[in-house]
Amino acid sequence: MRKKIVAANWKMNLNLEEGKKLVDGIIAGMPTLNEQKEVVIAPPFVHLAQTAGQLQGKAHIYLGAQNCYSETAGAYTGEISASMLKSVGTAYVIIGHSERREYFKEDNAMLAKKTDQGLANGLKVIFCCGEPLEVRDADTQNAYVEKQIKEGLFHLDAAQLKNIVIAYEPIWAIGTGRTASAQQAQDMHAHIRAVIAAQYGKDTADNMSILYGGSCKPSNAAELFACADVDGGLIGGASLKADEFLGIIDAMIKA
Ligand code: 13P
Repeated sequence: MRKKIVAANWKMNLNLEEGKKLVDGIIAGMPTLNEQKEVVIAPPFVHLAQTAGQLQGKAHIYLGAQNCYSETAGAYTGEISASMLKSVGTAYVIIGHSERREYFKEDNAMLAKKTDQGLANGLKVIFCCGEPLEVRDADTQNAYVEKQIKEGLFHLDAAQLKNIVIAYEPIWAIGTGRTASAQQAQDMHAHIRAVIAAQYGKDTADNMSILYGGSCKPSNAAELFACADVDGGLIGGASLKADEFLGIIDAMIKA
C-alpha cells in the first residue's frame, strides 16, 4: 500500500524564531498518524538543525530539505551536500522544484545527478514535475511531464524507485490561487503512474506516492486527495500557517 504524504515546502520564508513557532504549532495540533500516513516539513537549510530537534521523537513527521547539490563534496561555494543534510537528521529532499528549474536553470540531467546524491546518502527524494501554462494551453502536458520523469528518474532501478515520491506541480497553479481541478490532477497523476508502470511494472507504480502541489489549501485539499491517484500534497503558502497546514493534514487523514 502506498503512503499518503503531506509535505510543507516553506520556500525562502520565515526566520529561525518564526520557524520554531510554526513547528511548535504544528506539533501541538498534530493528529495521530499511522505507518501509512506521513508529514514532511521542508524549511530553509538554516532551520534544519533546529527543526530536527523539535521533531525528535515525533512519529511519522519527518524533516525535509528543499534542495541539495549534485556533487558529493568539495569546492562548490554556497552549496549543501546530501550527506550534510543526512547528518542533521533530514529524511527527505525535494529535487527539481519548478522554481529551481526556472530561476537556477536546473535541467533534467542535473536533477538526475541530484536525485542520485539524495538516494546515495539515504534520503528519500520528492521529485517535482509539472508544466508551464503555455504547455497546458497547447494540451501537451502529458508528453512534457513524461519527459521530465524519464530524464530525471529512468536511470534508477526498481529498488531505488521505492525511495522516490513524485510531486506533480503545474506551474500555472503555484502561488497563483488557481488550483488544478481535481479531474486535471487525477488525469495527470494517472498518466504519471502509467508512465512508471510501463517502465517498472504495475507493482512499483502502485506503490509510488504521487503528490499534488499548487494552491492546495484546506478548502480544496479534500477534493484533490479524494482522487484515486492523488496521494497527498506538496504545500507552499498554506504550509506557513499552522492551522492551514493542519487542515490539509486533516484532509489527508480523512481521504
Ligand atoms: P503554493 O502552495 O504556494 O501554490 O506552492 C506550491 C509549491 O510550489 C509547493 O512546492
